[in-house]
Formats: sequence, structure tokens, C-alpha cells
Amino acid sequence: QYRERILQLARRKDAEDDFLGMLITCRDEWVTSFLYETAAGVRQKLYGRDVYIRGLIEISNFCKNDCYYCGIRKSNRELTRYHIGEDEILECCEEGYALGFRTFVLQGGEDGYYTDDRLCRIITGIKKEYPDCAVTLSLGERSRESYKKLHDAGADRYLLRHETADETHYRQLHPSSLSLENRKQCLFYLKELGYQVGSGFMVGSPGQIPEHLIEDLRFLQKLQPAMIGIGPFLPHKDTPFREEKEGDLTMCLNLTAILRLLFPHALIPATTALGTLHSEGRELGILAGANVVMPNLSPLSVRQLYSLYNNKACTGLEAAEHKVLLEKRMERIGYRIVTSRGDVVK
Ligand code: 5AD
Repeated sequence: QYRERILQLARRKDAEDDFLGMLITCRDEWVTSFLYETAAGVRQKLYGRDVYIRGLIEISNFCKNDCYYCGIRKSNRELTRYHIGEDEILECCEEGYALGFRTFVLQGGEDGYYTDDRLCRIITGIKKEYPDCAVTLSLGERSRESYKKLHDAGADRYLLRHETADETHYRQLHPSSLSLENRKQCLFYLKELGYQVGSGFMVGSPGQIPEHLIEDLRFLQKLQPAMIGIGPFLPHKDTPFREEKEGDLTMCLNLTAILRLLFPHALIPATTALGTLHSEGRELGILAGANVVMPNLSPLSVRQLYSLYNNKACTGLEAAEHKVLLEKRMERIGYRIVTSRGDVVK
């Protein structure tokens, strides 16, 4: 009977709250295996066994925010702060391009160093050198005007996780200088401006209950993002959440599969956090319906410093090694890394 209901979820791309709640928390291996297989089937129909790669460049660990979960929060005095300059970013792209990357993700904390002008120069520079590449930004909340300038300069995509769609839970994770309302507003601005938008949430963050996760799914149904990133919450030693327990692997995989069924076309990464939680986390993510991986292109000298959570996977690997490693890992499970831009198919 659960089989029929999972197939119905795949057909309708929707389900009632109680069934979603059951699937999110399900630990019965017959059910979860069938869920993952169904999700992998949907994914295969639209994207085959291709896995897209995104070159992640962590441009800054300065941040004006103080999110309780995040290792680069403003109050963390233990961290050496850095940002990388325009030339260095272009060097990362050059290395990445040679390796076959056709998407560059510039990610960082909310750092005043990256003014609109500076970012526009960087984006224009990348686009001029690599016109066949997509530029993705992941730089937090900015004004609508700023998002517009960056889009006009050539940015194609923007990642901004909503983190949790529940107002009360949002307050438990963030100081009062941030609001869920503004977060959502930013996401709708980005969409309206023509970006391919990515959102998502942490799984197992402190105070989270299954009802919150259902709210997350409902919010994403309203937003209809092109990309959805989720990953387990992982404690960081220099944050107020240092003693909290990490997110659960099965729950992450169940949600990955549910997202694939609700959003068949979405680009869904098997995240570094998932690979940190479990040594084969990224493979398991792909097998549950994910279709993107994001190897690190950041300069080795700053890798350790971009620490959102403890024990981040692959911080010691050169970009080239990391790509080869992921290629092997994907091949072993019957998938292959491809070098196309990997835009959303519609
Ligand atoms: N554990 C897991 N994910 C985290 N992020 C930030 N801190 C943590 C943590 N401690 C995630 C957030 C953010 C993304 C860049 O990293 O969801 O959006």
C-alpha cells in the first residue's frame, strides 16, 4: 500500500501533509528503498545518469550576521578572516575551466568588501573570459537594486537557502537582525529579476520538528526554485550550537527523494555536508535522486578557514584531485560526471 502511495506522490507531484510527514521520518528499509528507487527513476527520465558539477569558490569568510549554527558567524573570534581578490577568483576559474567546470559558484558570508561595483567587475571579468560558463552567486541577503545590478552584469543563478520556513524556528536559529520575511522577499526578488534561484534548508537543525520540514516543502512549492540544496545540520565548535546533535542521514536521504518527486526538474546537489556526515553521503544522495555535486575550487590556503561546520570533507584536496575522486565515486554507483553548464531542463 505504501508503494501505491509513493507512486501516486510521483504522479501527482504532491501529497498530503500526513503522508509527507510519514515519509520524512520513515526508517523502514523497504519503504525508504522504494522511495529512493522511485526518485532515482524520475531523475533518470529527465536527466539520465548525468551528474552536473559546480566549481565552488569560497570568496570570503567575513560575515556581518551572527547565525547561531554557522562557523563564520560574526561573533566567532577564533577564526582568521579572509577574502580573496578579483585576480585570485579569476585564477580559480581558470583552473576550474581547464578541468571542465562550466559553472562557477561564488559563495561567501555577507561581507561589505564585495560592493556591487566590485562584484560586477568580477562577474563581467568571468563572463568575458568564459562566455560559455554560468556564474552562480551565493552571497546572502542584498537589496533588490544590488541583485539587479549583479544580474545585469551577467550573474545567471543565485543560491539563498531559506534555512527554515517556520517563523518560530527561524527565530531559534537566527538573531533578531534577520527575518524570515526578508529572506523570502529576497528569494522572490531574485526570481522576478530572472535568476535561476536555489533555496533549501538544513535537516536536523536545533529545534526542528517534522512539521517544520513539511512547511519547508510547502514554501518551496510556492517559490518553485530551479535548484534545491539541503544538508544535515553539523555542529561547529565555536558556535552556540556546539553541543547540539547533528542531522540524521536517513532523514536527509528521505527528503532528497521527496524533493525529487515534488520537483522532478530541480537541480539538487548531494552536498558537502552530506559527504561530511557519512563517508558515502554524496553517493547515497545521488542514489536518492540528487543530480549535482559541488567540488571545491577555492585556493588551498583558505580552505580550512571557510568552516561553516566541523570536519568538512575534502578540505585538503586540490580541485583536480577532488574532481577525479568524485568521478570515481560516481562511476562506482553507475553515474557519470558531465561538464555541460547543467541548466534546469523544462
Ligand atoms: N551545518 C550545516 N550546514 C550549515 N550551513 C551553515 N552552517 C551550517 C552548519 N553548522 C549551511 C547553511 C547555508 C549554507 C551555505 O551552509 O544552510 O545556507
